[in-house]
Order: sequence, then C-alpha cells, then structure tokens
Amino acid sequence: MKNFKDKKIIITGGGSGMGRHLAYQLAAEGAEVFVTDINAQTLKETEQEIISKGGKCKSYVVDSGSEQQIFDFKEKYLAEEKYVDVLFNNAGMALGEIELMDVKDDHLKKIIDVNMWGVINFTRAFLPTLISRPEAHLVNTSSVFGIIGVKTQVPYCTTKFAVRGFTEALRMELADTNVIISCVHPGGIKTNIVHNGIHYKDGSKSADQFEKMAITTAEDAATIIIRGIKKGKEKILIGIDAKLIDKIARWFPVKYSVMVKWFHERNFKK
Ligand SMILES: NC(=O)c1ccc[n+]([C@@H]2O[C@H](COP(=O)([O-])OP(=O)(O)OC[C@H]3O[C@@H](n4cnc5c(N)ncnc54)[C@H](O)[C@@H]3O)[C@@H](O)[C@H]2O)c1
Repeated sequence: MKNFKDKKIIITGGGSGMGRHLAYQLAAEGAEVFVTDINAQTLKETEQEIISKGGKCKSYVVDSGSEQQIFDFKEKYLAEEKYVDVLFNNAGMALGEIELMDVKDDHLKKIIDVNMWGVINFTRAFLPTLISRPEAHLVNTSSVFGIIGVKTQVPYCTTKFAVRGFTEALRMELADTNVIISCVHPGGIKTNIVHNGIHYKDGSKSADQFEKMAITTAEDAATIIIRGIKKGKEKILIGIDAKLIDKIARWFPVKYSVMVKWFHERNFKK
C-alpha cells in the first residue's frame, strides 16, 4: 500500500510508544485512524492530539487479552465503519526479567492472552473485511525475541515466536488474496514497555541497561514500519540491533545462544 489517504486503519495499543506514533504519522498522511488500548487515559490523549492537528481519529477501550471485548469491538466498529484497510496488531506487554519457574500462573496466562491471543483474535475478527478490500495490509508486531530465545524472557519469547509463526503461516494461506502481511521485529525501542513490565524494578541493572540499549525512538520506529509497508516488506526489522540479531540467528541458528548468554551475563547480571 503506497498511499494511506482516506484509508481506515486500526491500531491496537495506540495509547503509547510505537502504536501512538503510528497513529500520529498515519493520520498526518490522511488516514482515518482507529486506536484501541486498555489504558483509557493515554488512548484519549492520542485521539485528542490527532484531532487537535486536524486529523481523523476515534478511540476505543479494548483489552487485547479478552476475546469477548475484541469481538464486541468488531461488531461495533463494522456497524459504524463498514470495513478496514489496515490492521496493526501492535499492543503488547512484557513481564520483565524473571525465570520461568518464578512466574506466577496468572502473569503467564496474561502475557499469552495479550501478546499471542490478542494478535490471533484481532486477526480472526477483521480478516474477512481485509480480504474484501481491493488492497489491504495486516501488520503483526513480534520482536527480536521472536527471532532468538533469551533467558529470563521465556514467556515473552514464547508469545513473540508465536506471533512470527502465526504471521508467516497465514501469509502463505493468503498468498492469493489482496492482503499483504508484515511481521515487525523491533530491537530496543525507547517506549514504556519495560516500565510497564509486571516485574519492572526502578533502578535495577536490567532496567538501566534497557534505557541505554534502546537506541531507536518510537517515532523513528513508526516511520520505519510505515516505510516498510509502503515497500510491501514482509519482514520489518527495526534498528541496527535487530538487523544484527537477525543475521547472527541465521549464521548460527543453534550456537547463537552462546553469544546471547555471554552478552546477557556481561550486561544484565545483577
Ligand atoms: N519497546 C521495545 O523495545 C520493543 C521491542 C520489541 C517488540 N516490542 C513490541 O512492540 C509493541 C508495542 O510496544 P511499545 O514498545 O510501543 O510499548 P508501550 O508500552 O509504549 O505500548 C504498548 C501499548 O499496548 C497497550 N497494552 C498493553 N496491554 C494491553 C492490553 N491487554 N490490551 C490493550 N492494550 C494493551 C499499553 O497500554 C500501551 O499503550 C508490543 O507488542 C511490544 O511487545 C517492543
């Protein structure tokens, strides 16, 4: 899709970070933007900022971890708007640094509900209307942690590998349709994801390291994603870190873990 003017675009997780900046930039290009988020306040801020600049935006509080809320939103949205041209499955959460056996059951369930089921259910809800459009794009956000596995991130990696697998397999199923499917793999992006992590500890070594290593701004990340969509790119890597990790995982598909372990112990060990 080369031009977003007058396109109807749904962005999940539009209240912060990359989702918010995607909404700003796409609205500035003339799209009608529909943002969803669990955080009513930040979501409203995104909507008001776009409208104050003359753009078109409507916001809806939807918990991406709730199948019921997603399908209720679908009914309401389609009754009012009839169709959607682009769906960004961007909403996501992190737990923070924690080993698998220390993760509480409800936290494990929650991250899988939001990061994996959220993407699956939003896609199931809106795929028929995407397929009915003359051109359409589905954009699912995975991570570099959907390319490599990392200790203390087992639940997050599980969900992000799932998003990648779901996206790549669905792309084959939809090869004969007008829907282009992109999988986004951001490296470290300066957003609220780590601060909002359930196990985030202010001032901890891992939190400080993330601040230092998140080298790309959310604004630049959104620009890279939009540029990737315009070029029809199916795999969108964001940041030099993501590009390097992708290469290492392809050069050393098993042994990359030795490098990751060394890097982790050097930078993240408390
Ligand atoms: N920031 C990074 O370094 C990074 C790296 C790789 C992948 N990602 C992924 O990028 C996506 C965007 O994250 P971000 O970095 O902009 O973080 P962010 O925390 O700034 O934004 C995420 C948004 O998702 C929303 N959200 C969280 N749980 C939700 C739920 N249950 N229902 C609806 N909305 C919910 C949050 O309220 C927030 O507005 C996520 O999928 C994240 O996993 C981020």
